[in-house]
Amino acid sequence: MACNYTAGFGIGQDSVINLDHGDPTMFAPFWKEVGDDATVKISGWEKMSYTSSCDDDICWFLEPEFANEVARLHRIVNNAATDGRYIIVGVGSTQMIHATLHALASIELRHPVNVVSAAPYYSMYPGIVDLMKSGLYHWAGDAAAFRGDDNFIELVCSPNNPDGAIRHAMLGKEAGKRVHDMAYYWPQYSPMRGPADHDIMLFTLSKATGHAGTRLGWALVKNKEVAREMAKFITLNTIGVSKDSQVRAATILKVISDGYEFPKPNGAPQFFHFGQHKLADRWRRLRRAVQESGQFSLPRFSPEFCEFFKEYAETYPGFAWLRCEDQKINDCEDFFKRINVLTRSGKHFGVGQEYVRISMLDTDANFDVFIKRISSLD
Ligand SMILES: Cc1ncc(COP(=O)(O)O)c(C=O)c1O
Repeated sequence: MACNYTAGFGIGQDSVINLDHGDPTMFAPFWKEVGDDATVKISGWEKMSYTSSCDDDICWFLEPEFANEVARLHRIVNNAATDGRYIIVGVGSTQMIHATLHALASIELRHPVNVVSAAPYYSMYPGIVDLMKSGLYHWAGDAAAFRGDDNFIELVCSPNNPDGAIRHAMLGKEAGKRVHDMAYYWPQYSPMRGPADHDIMLFTLSKATGHAGTRLGWALVKNKEVAREMAKFITLNTIGVSKDSQVRAATILKVISDGYEFPKPNGAPQFFHFGQHKLADRWRRLRRAVQESGQFSLPRFSPEFCEFFKEYAETYPGFAWLRCEDQKINDCEDFFKRINVLTRSGKHFGVGQEYVRISMLDTDANFDVFIKRISSLD
């Protein structure tokens, strides 16, 4: 079968632009400019063991250099408390979500535990939760509509995928359990409001640095028993996490941190500044095209003081949560499909199909074509 998808070059008038996934290829030019400093060499004899060289009795597969760079970057950005937290590494934050649900539900006495998230929620949550058809937990939908008792786990995504909103737990603090998915709590997307201090916080290299292919996520966990259960899940699921990936991730995180702690005199680019400028430019162009079309709307955000940039900053989500305002358009995803732009319908996020989620993180070439197509709508 012919593949009509073009990844950034030679994009024809009719090419299909895939903005359905949040593939963070937008960050590639930064890493190209960094060059060899971010290149990793692992000799044939290195990193062969299942175990790591750290003496962490809970996360026995955690590479110490990766753990150190995670803690260092959080300290520099000041976006999450790490002191006294257990760091658990996983194959993307997708595996971390599975591990967290397993750990929290295992500790609960009554099963299945209801797993909820406020709509619009990250479209993968229902599938992840129900994938194993576990007897321990099951997907119970929109947190706002939950009428059950205290037997729940609330997934709180903040800043939220798909709409970029800052989210707080919706269900009672005293009851149930909460997991904070903080994939987008980084300065390129959102003003930093100080260190988050939740019981379980999930992060991913995919959205922090753009290295989705490295498949690495991590959790900061307060409770030792929960951390131990999460590590047990990863032990039984994949017998740990690639050492090669952890070494690469440590190098990538180190380049970002060094860029702020030891800035080069020649004004070399700094990662969060690069990301924020790029997203600011894309959002400016998208807002203009949307306004001129008169057919759509986008969420609005007020500037807030950013503790990292030390100035007022705008919010630039990794996705545009776009609403088709034209009454004649019933299915916004289908509308965009007709102009060869693949988006993800609101129905996957627990809301109506007048909404679509559009990735803002794709290549420059694909983003340019997308803007051209919106701008040339009648
Ligand atoms: C909110 C949220 N959580 C988790 C993930 C999964 O990330 P990973 O690539 O680390 O599995 C994503 C990816 O898009 C996401 O947007």
